[in-house]
Amino acid sequence: MSTGHPQRVQSMFDRIAKRYDAFNTVASFGRDEAWRRLAVRLAAPEHVDRALDAASGTGKLAAALATQATHVTALDFSNPMLQRSMPLLAAQGLSTKVASIQGDVLALPFPDATFYCATIGFGLRNLDDIPAGLAEFKRVLKPGGRLVVLDIVKPKNIVSKAVYTIGFRGMLPLVGWALSGSRTAYQYLPNSVQRYLTPPELVAEMTDAGFRDVSYRNLMLGSIALHSGRV
Ligand SMILES: C[S@@+](CC[C@H](N)C(=O)[O-])C[C@H]1O[C@@H](n2cnc3c(N)ncnc32)[C@H](O)[C@@H]1O
Repeated sequence: MSTGHPQRVQSMFDRIAKRYDAFNTVASFGRDEAWRRLAVRLAAPEHVDRALDAASGTGKLAAALATQATHVTALDFSNPMLQRSMPLLAAQGLSTKVASIQGDVLALPFPDATFYCATIGFGLRNLDDIPAGLAEFKRVLKPGGRLVVLDIVKPKNIVSKAVYTIGFRGMLPLVGWALSGSRTAYQYLPNSVQRYLTPPELVAEMTDAGFRDVSYRNLMLGSIALHSGRV
């Protein structure tokens, strides 16, 4: 389940930071904001004090989480992504509410039982060791705290296989290449999906990591899934 080289993944995200949001909007047909709002509703159905958004990229999910949390920590290992997130958060008046921290999901720099909920959007798939990442989330969540994972998933049925082959393997690498000028970065995307998990496999991983009441819902014809579970 390894992605290969974490440093290569990090430098790839460093390279595409400027174009990341534009690509995301095109790739999701403009649905990414709605998916983030849904992720927040699952992670924090009621207002919470302290929330974590890991692999936060340009901070969009962290900003959405700030509607339901008093303090949000946005963590990413890519400094260019964090640098890009800061003016975007400031423009929304969220500079004090959202603390941006550089760090690795596989070694979260927080004590046990720090957060009431955690989210990770389009990030779990990139981890070199998914069980280790899930164990870190479990460690930093308070008892009863929820983890919500939003990601592209490995195709399971004929429809999601078609979306994967035509969309993720055929069209999106070309769109990403055109938008970012980086061909390799967007060849990485279909490969990372192929190495990832089907939705039921992620349910099993989260359950094995000690999460309870794990469930998921499919989005975009089963090519995206939103998983949630409680500590
Ligand atoms: C595809 S972007 C997703 C950004 C954002 N969560 C969103 O929903 O748009 C993936 C992000 O995960 C970060 N990332 C990948 N592996 C990581 C790790 N081990 N620790 C911290 N950040 C990581 C990358 O730097 C990148 O910003």
